Amino acid sequence: MKSRIEALLQEIATLEIPTPDALEQFRIQYLGKKGILAALFVDFKEVPGPEKKETGLLLNQLKQAAEQKIESLREVLEAQQAQQVEIPDLSRPAGGHEAGSRHPVSLVMNQMIGIFQRLGFNLSDGPEIVDDWHNFGALNFDEDHPARDMQDTFFLSNPEGWLLRTHTSSVQVQEMMKGQLPLRAIMPGRVYRNETISARAHCQFHQIEGLYIAEDASFADLKQTLYSFVREMFGPDSKVRFRPSYFPFTEISAEMDVSCFICGGEGCAVCKQTGWVEILGCGMVDPQVLINCGIDPEKYQGYAFGIGVERMAMLKYGIRDLRLFFENDARFLKQFHLGLGL
Ligand code: DAH
Repeated sequence: MKSRIEALLQEIATLEIPTPDALEQFRIQYLGKKGILAALFVDFKEVPGPEKKETGLLLNQLKQAAEQKIESLREVLEAQQAQQVEIPDLSRPAGGHEAGSRHPVSLVMNQMIGIFQRLGFNLSDGPEIVDDWHNFGALNFDEDHPARDMQDTFFLSNPEGWLLRTHTSSVQVQEMMKGQLPLRAIMPGRVYRNETISARAHCQFHQIEGLYIAEDASFADLKQTLYSFVREMFGPDSKVRFRPSYFPFTEISAEMDVSCFICGGEGCAVCKQTGWVEILGCGMVDPQVLINCGIDPEKYQGYAFGIGVERMAMLKYGIRDLRLFFENDARFLKQFHLGLGL
């Protein structure tokens, strides 16, 4: 037994313990309930009398050696481990970033812009604060024209009478007054109306205006352009129909409906059982508007159209409440990507 204890003392003296985990292993191995020392103390009972004293001293020495080893290494090893900075594997592939999602209005707007660009339309931009001339005057809304009441306007309190544009038709005026003809452009943007906010109306929304001015622009071109747009937007089986309408800046004027792509024209809640949904206003630019913008109506004619983007998004994604677009609730906004649903 003595020689065994001496061998163990030797082992403890030379043993390398690199980590706190290994130290704990060592503790269990020597001092644990079923450890080496416990077993030796059991064997000690069998040691014959004359050898008891010496063996007992050795055994205590062993126990102290184990305890000291633990005591001396514990703090050192723990301090070492805390200092060890993990160096990441710099060659590993980059982790993916959580991608945000595009707003449904942007998605639909970009899709619409893409379709019109493929049809040969340029992109034009204009300011949201405009004068009366760009929003109304040039577009044939006389001072006391009742059509001004159709669009409740936010006026700015400056003497020049600036206002928040009520429609993107103001950009038509800006583009026509540049005098670079022929002109084929779409004009997307935000517009403002002093409306009571409800599920169907808001004080801000988006439109895409379209304008084509050329020597040979015709209503047939307008119909074909819009028909191509609708087939790309809502599918090749979509049908369109035009209804006579009135806008001060177009003559003739029409509103266009598309066959309900939810029920295929059978009649449902979205199309209010009619099989058709109204999506835009359009017409041939009134010759007086051309004159107002310095274009000779004897030489040039034009067509124009205006589409509400939120309305398109509501139809495309089956959204029933316009207010959702402006509340920025992430749970709502995360749900959209093109190709979803319809
Ligand atoms: N500006 C009209 C509105 O906001 C929409 C519109 C109708 C635009 C007919 C046009 C058009 O260019 O030709 O209600």
